[in-house]
Amino acid sequence: MEDFFNRKVRSLSGGQRQKLNILLSILHKPKLVILDELSTGLEAKHYLPVGAVLSVEDGVEVAAGDILARIPRESTKTRDITGGLPRVADLVEARRPKDHAVIAEVDGRIEFGKDYKSKRRVLLHPTDGSEPIEYMLPKGKHVVINEGDFVKRGDMIIDGNPVLQDILKVMGVEALASYMVSEIQAVYRLQGVKIDDKHIEGHTKLAKAIQSYGSLAVIQLHHAGMRSPKEVINQQPVCPSNNEEFDTKALSLDEVKTLRDDFISASIRSQKAGYNGIEVHGAHGYILCQFLSTEINKREDEYGGSLENRSRILFEIIDGIREKCGTDFLIGIRLSPERFGMELQEIKTLSQQLIDKGNIDFLDISLWDCFKYPEDDNYKNKTLLEHITALDYKNVKLTVAGKLSSGKLFP
Ligand SMILES: Cc1cc2nc3c(=O)[nH]c(=O)nc-3n(C[C@H](O)[C@H](O)[C@H](O)COP(=O)(O)O)c2cc1C
Repeated sequence: MEDFFNRKVRSLSGGQRQKLNILLSILHKPKLVILDELSTGLEAKHYLPVGAVLSVEDGVEVAAGDILARIPRESTKTRDITGGLPRVADLVEARRPKDHAVIAEVDGRIEFGKDYKSKRRVLLHPTDGSEPIEYMLPKGKHVVINEGDFVKRGDMIIDGNPVLQDILKVMGVEALASYMVSEIQAVYRLQGVKIDDKHIEGHTKLAKAIQSYGSLAVIQLHHAGMRSPKEVINQQPVCPSNNEEFDTKALSLDEVKTLRDDFISASIRSQKAGYNGIEVHGAHGYILCQFLSTEINKREDEYGGSLENRSRILFEIIDGIREKCGTDFLIGIRLSPERFGMELQEIKTLSQQLIDKGNIDFLDISLWDCFKYPEDDNYKNKTLLEHITALDYKNVKLTVAGKLSSGKLFP
């Protein structure tokens, strides 16, 4: 690095490209300076941390996109297999990563202040005009912003793994959930482990623990479809049909089949983990409920239109699970009898068909209030529960939930 000490920034001319000057000032602020040789007088500075490996020499021409220096990133340490599991533990325990990133708390403009001993002073002037926020950053770290830059809330000021508490404070709980999911998945992907299978180990413990109390362990399988928050899943939510209000993307016919197969493979995985059974979530406006709804499902293929078509995926899932998991495995389905675009009469018909088909063990009707009357005036002659209990259950069990607070039917 001695070679670069006290070099002067030279003015350069000629050609279309920009010229590079490498400058290490006596202030111990090593930086790369790119001069625009068209004499606009503009220059870009990149401050370098200790340990940076230069990829260019002084005076060479560079073009946009050229690599100037490589900075060994702290975060790259986690990108191998040995870094993987400790990284997951750090995330789950919300430990502060060593050499963590520093992120901007608000939108604002960056100014480099007067350094203090081994610290680099960076001021962030919030766009709302409030008091500047001061960051005292270790000089050895790679500052990824430049003097005068505008940064957005959550942008990195120092590279590295962000502190979970910072993400929560600055970006909110959904951003934190999204970050944790993508980081943990990245670790498993790197290890070549199928993420879904990775959960079997933990679920085996859970199922065993539930069973140790003499209880059956049944897991609910769920896909939220259009109700998946975009900020958490980092992509446009899917739905049986495009929906402008929820900004959703319609599933293609192939994707509908994948969705069906995913419910079936999740059941196989649940069985491997030792669960006694599964419950398919077809209620509360989640994706299978979206298929059942005439308000939401506008498909023109075999999965939209008549009740038979709208409920096709549900039957295919249930029948597929029964075929793959055998007769000893408990299969239940949860349905909403009303709201979420559901028609009470249709849900009664569908429930009876599911019972008659013989592949479910229990029907779970989500009443939200077991003592209420239907919302629809046409069915107010009896309570929702009375409507539901009037079905012919054969060997199927009925479960309900909603404002049950004692063992007595009429408290
Ligand atoms: C915070 C919260 C989370 C819930 N999560 C689920 C869920 O994951 N799956 C489900 O089928 N129902 C879920 N429910 C609905 C409950 O199963 C139940 O139907 C509802 O709370 C009404 O019953 P209660 O009066 O006994 O609370 C949830 C309810 C609440 C309040």
